[in-house]
Amino acid sequence: MMTRDISAYKKLAEKSLEALRLEHETPRGLFAPISYMLEGGGKRLRPVLLLVSCDAVGGDASRCQSQAAGIEMFHNFTLLHDDVMDRSPLRHGKPTVHKKWDVATAILSGDAMLTKATELIVNGLNPDVASEVLKTFNDTAMLVYKGQQLDMEFESRLDVTPDEYLEMISMKTGALIAGACLIGAIAGGVKGRDVGVALYKYGMNLGVAFQIQDDLLDTYGDEKVFGKPIGGDILNDKKTWLLVTALQSGSGKELKKIITGQELQGDAKIAAVRDIYDREKVKERSTQMLETAVSGAISWLDSVKDYITAESYALLRGYAEGMSGRVK
Ligand code: IPE
Ligand code: IPE
Ligand code: MG
Ligand code: MG
Ligand code: MG
Repeated sequence: MMTRDISAYKKLAEKSLEALRLEHETPRGLFAPISYMLEGGGKRLRPVLLLVSCDAVGGDASRCQSQAAGIEMFHNFTLLHDDVMDRSPLRHGKPTVHKKWDVATAILSGDAMLTKATELIVNGLNPDVASEVLKTFNDTAMLVYKGQQLDMEFESRLDVTPDEYLEMISMKTGALIAGACLIGAIAGGVKGRDVGVALYKYGMNLGVAFQIQDDLLDTYGDEKVFGKPIGGDILNDKKTWLLVTALQSGSGKELKKIITGQELQGDAKIAAVRDIYDREKVKERSTQMLETAVSGAISWLDSVKDYITAESYALLRGYAEGMSGRVK
């Protein structure tokens, strides 16, 4: 079997998207925003994990390109709709689809992406494998929607607990990263449930770490590198790990006043909340939680070390270890 490094997997993921030839699909009003999303400069984390997981269990990643394209298409569908829900003006350093076009376009192009994703995820698989992959994909998608709903509901609550937050991000972010690993393993012909489950749990923990880092970057990142506006979560009262932690700290009362008071808006609100974060060492405490999730991911991976290829083990471990150093 061929051994690949991360950049080779990323290239394979890019190739699988280019093969869709979306530039030829009409009407352009429906498909141009889809290409715009997919060409935005995403990291391709989910398709790479899918392809690595396929090879990990002795499958052939080059035969899972359609599944790789499908998972990335689905991910970008969730981002397209997420930007409407979060009122985000910028992604990948460019205007979001609902800003560049309009909300109606964002809704319908998103719908088309979901349908394309579903078609791609089963394409080329034998019927038994296809039905297992489709079930995993649909279960995953439903978890993402549930997590997204909770994320929105939490905006207007001040009593969100750390456990509620972790459950919410397990669904909105963890499920898709976990699902990518499991789909790759199933398409790669994984034998028995244990290895697939362990890869799923690896992905779930990785996803939790990934979202905590996303929360951190939303406050402490560099907009030019991160590609999203810094402070958007604070302005939306998003219950990130940072805010949930700060609300439970000695400065919780003061923070509640800022959120409910409405006197501080825009940059002034961002600065005031950041002051409290600094005072309560929220950044350090969030990084601790992130590292706990990373350890969880590595434990699950270690539990199947003898059943997956050494190359895949090293790549998956590397992803987990690199999580807190991520800047975009
Ligand atoms: C963004 O995902 C949404 C989150 C789960 C935080 P990514 O950070 O993987 O986005 P792209 O694919 O690189 O654009
Ligand atoms: C992402 O959460 C979860 C999704 C399912 C899209 P965010 O709302 O934090 O993602 P970004 O920061 O907009 O990429
Ligand atoms: Mg969101
Ligand atoms: Mg968002
Ligand atoms: Mg975010």
